[in-house]
Amino acid sequence: MLLFRLSMKLVVIGAGYVGLVTAAVFAQFGNSVIVVEIDKNRIRQLSEGKIPFFEPGLEELIKSNVKTERLSITDSYQKAIPQSEIIFLCVGTPTKNGRADLSSIYSSVKSIAENLKNKVTVVIKSTVPPGTNEKVRKVFEKTTKVEIELASVPEFLREGKAIEDTLHPYRVVIGARNKDTIKKLLKLHQKISGKRMVCSPESAQMIKYASNAFLPSKISFANSIARICDNFGINIEEVMKGMGMDKRIGPDFLNAGLGYGGSCFPKDIDALLYLSESVGYDFSILKAVKKTNNDQVDFFVNKIISLCSGSVKGKILVVLGLSFKPNTSDMREARSLYVIHRLQKLGAVVRACDPVAISEAVKVLCKADFYVDPYEALKGADGLVLVTEWDEYKNLDFVKIKKIMKSPIVADGRNIYNREGLEKLGFTYEGIGK
Ligand code: UGA
Repeated sequence: MLLFRLSMKLVVIGAGYVGLVTAAVFAQFGNSVIVVEIDKNRIRQLSEGKIPFFEPGLEELIKSNVKTERLSITDSYQKAIPQSEIIFLCVGTPTKNGRADLSSIYSSVKSIAENLKNKVTVVIKSTVPPGTNEKVRKVFEKTTKVEIELASVPEFLREGKAIEDTLHPYRVVIGARNKDTIKKLLKLHQKISGKRMVCSPESAQMIKYASNAFLPSKISFANSIARICDNFGINIEEVMKGMGMDKRIGPDFLNAGLGYGGSCFPKDIDALLYLSESVGYDFSILKAVKKTNNDQVDFFVNKIISLCSGSVKGKILVVLGLSFKPNTSDMREARSLYVIHRLQKLGAVVRACDPVAISEAVKVLCKADFYVDPYEALKGADGLVLVTEWDEYKNLDFVKIKKIMKSPIVADGRNIYNREGLEKLGFTYEGIGK
């Protein structure tokens, strides 16, 4: 006899990256999924089949599951909650004054509790500090008599590769104590590949924070080595390649450049630093990771100044790539914001170029001129400043660019270009540690 039905009634709270991807993937597996979102504007966009951000493959997946009625979106907890078997909390947990702001978690938990009719499993997917489950349990107990099971299944997807990462993660971490809850969640995830790890909810939450602190530590380490390589004329890419061949180190997240941005690493590092301070521990390694990352922007801007013979005042500089990384329109903590701000402060005229993020970038960058076509942007420019390594920028026609630019200068913040090739064409090139 099957202990649980193969398809389940799921509710996902929050139509952000994590919520929409979770909902779409589980609907695709045949479950019935209702997404609850309180932002009416977002619901309207989604009901017109539009995804509020750029994520490859997501729009098609959402559309096809809405069509087959496996997936629906509402702002009504009253409509969604009573029939649900598993509820996923996928709301944002930004940092406020350095600590994780859990107000959206608590307000959605209250709304869930007010509408519960039957026993349900509530799974926290949002990144939250250890101990949150017990606080959430108290909110439930205050508001309802209905029995709930709490679990923590942290999200490890990357923007730009969200669907691939959800279908084929390295691991699925199930943080729960109740045996039936663990079985139910293992069953729900059975079509997803990757290793399984069952542990306490607190460990699951700490695994997420520790992972989101360790990966940027690798990046800052690579960037620190790059600073030394830069002085000795050593190529950082060769060094990291050789280092990454050691299985204990691994080749990923060792790309030196302008450093990390995005909605996750910077906020989770701050939240973990807050957590460590709250127990009286000085997490000095993590502080250095953060400082190293911030310093990379200054280091890069100083290179641009040297390339421009000591001053960028009045120079037309084309920044290629605005989003915090390729394949996303997300501008949160994008390095481009910091680089552009510094250059503008120093008197440069910035032309900002990106294949998809301009609609987001205009909200946060006021003084720049925006371009989609890099060649248009580069006409008459004094310098090309590569900030985000979109594929579109990897194979540019530099023979053509040499003809249209005023000064043949390339500052490569992600080490995607070949110094020798560019120098042969007459460009002056600077990368980071190469
Ligand atoms: C990150 C984690 O990789 C995911 O596992 C996690 O689920 C997610 O945060 C989250 O907490 O939701 P994401 O922020 O989408 O994912 O982006 P990453 O691909 O990890 O890149 C983060 C930043 O690091 C980018 O700015 C990227 O340019 C930079 N980076 C990455 C480097 O500078 N060097 C590298 O070698 C790799």
